[in-house]
Amino acid sequence: MSKTVVALAGLGTIGAGLAKLLCENPAAGKVLRLKSVLVRDLSKPRALPHGTIVSNKASEIVEDPEVDVVVEALGGVESAFAVVESALKAGKHVVTANKNLLAEKGPELFALARQKGVSLGFEASVCAGIPIIRTLREALRAETILSVEGIVNGTTNYILTRMSENASSYTDALREAQEKGYAEPDPSYDVSGKDAACKATILTSLAFGHFFPTDRIRTSGISNLDSQDVSQAEAMGYRIKLIAAARRTKNGQVDVEVAPVLLPKEHPLASVRLEYNAVLVDSTGLGLTLYSGKGAGPAPTAVSLLADLMDVAQGRALLVEEENGFLHRQENFECDRTQLERFYIHLSVPDLPGVLAKVAGVLAAQGVSLASVLQPEVKSDAEGLVPLILTTHQAQRGRLDAALAELGKEGWGKGVVLRIQDV
Ligand code: NAP
Ligand code: HSE
Repeated sequence: MSKTVVALAGLGTIGAGLAKLLCENPAAGKVLRLKSVLVRDLSKPRALPHGTIVSNKASEIVEDPEVDVVVEALGGVESAFAVVESALKAGKHVVTANKNLLAEKGPELFALARQKGVSLGFEASVCAGIPIIRTLREALRAETILSVEGIVNGTTNYILTRMSENASSYTDALREAQEKGYAEPDPSYDVSGKDAACKATILTSLAFGHFFPTDRIRTSGISNLDSQDVSQAEAMGYRIKLIAAARRTKNGQVDVEVAPVLLPKEHPLASVRLEYNAVLVDSTGLGLTLYSGKGAGPAPTAVSLLADLMDVAQGRALLVEEENGFLHRQENFECDRTQLERFYIHLSVPDLPGVLAKVAGVLAAQGVSLASVLQPEVKSDAEGLVPLILTTHQAQRGRLDAALAELGKEGWGKGVVLRIQDV
């Protein structure tokens, strides 16, 4: 039987991980042959099987009539889009690890793949090695999904774990995540929540059958958290995790958010450590199911890329189905600001008489009741401010935001506000 011929666009952290697995995995060796790779810099040494073509011209690998499937592991959007679009136009199957590309150009690319009758595999684009795309697309396809929430970024989970368990600094933990190959080529995508929001777009489109543009998802990252937030959350019995959450609302719409959240230590997502990811799905027939595993790094990502390639080689790759959520635009976003939730608030305030009374008064005027108040005994910062850490009883986010805007007029409203999720 002739082998399926693969062209690999990108031989960085992820591309090199896949090239290694293609050489070492016996099942892959039986059905797949890596013919060519696309890179930017031809002078870099590359560890590749003898005879592999290395090119810096996309057309050379994409237009090669012998190539059956193109793997995109370039990153970014523009060049990746050009490669994927021309491969699909040439009638080749495509496999990609690129969530930015799918979040931005998914509707166009899936429509093109459908028109050409080829597959577009993207298991590696969300949670690296966890087969969550297959689960939503195949195992749960007859289920009505009520919510999908999870830790979908390995870099930020690694940073938060190291800060909480080893008292590492944010900067040291981020550097380690980069060294281990978890971070994006531009790590600001990880820490700002953008990477998780792109993954939320993909998961939500599969779970709810509509495309949710990433720029409509309320997104906040972890870069404004400090070690005090991490240790204070621990002291209160919680762990801070960056959570991507999409829920059907009572009006039948969908509310999507990416934000750091305080989870009680007994919550199933609270014990997910380091670069591991986990996704909790609630569906009508099955109830809660939890999927967890390594969510970042070259090895787990290569496993998912290889699974998509094996599907192509063995004629099992799913074509783009009519109900693919990327093909259907969603206009009905709902941002539910009336739901009752508890909050953790870290303000910076002047250490002066009456400040605490003013803060409590402004919150009370919006019906926000305090559950706890802590002003640690620390020296004031360069601006003469000290931390004031509050937790609230259940309150509406909209009313809390109004109170914070009022405090903002005093110059004190700036700070960290996190949802506290009880089990
Ligand atoms: P990377 O290390 O920066 O590697 C990018 C590769 O693409 C390099 O080989 C580079 O060539 C090549 N390249 C980039 N632009 C090019 C262009 N215009 N023409 C030709 N070659 C070009 O990136 P990465 O960390 O491997 O990430 C790749 C993708 O995997 C991203 O979409 C990322 O989001 C995704 N991903 C990453 C993880 C993870 O755990 N890190 C997990 C899942 C998915 P040179 O080698 O010559 O520079
Ligand atoms: N940078 C990403 C993360 C890679 O840390 O989760 C996996 O998509």
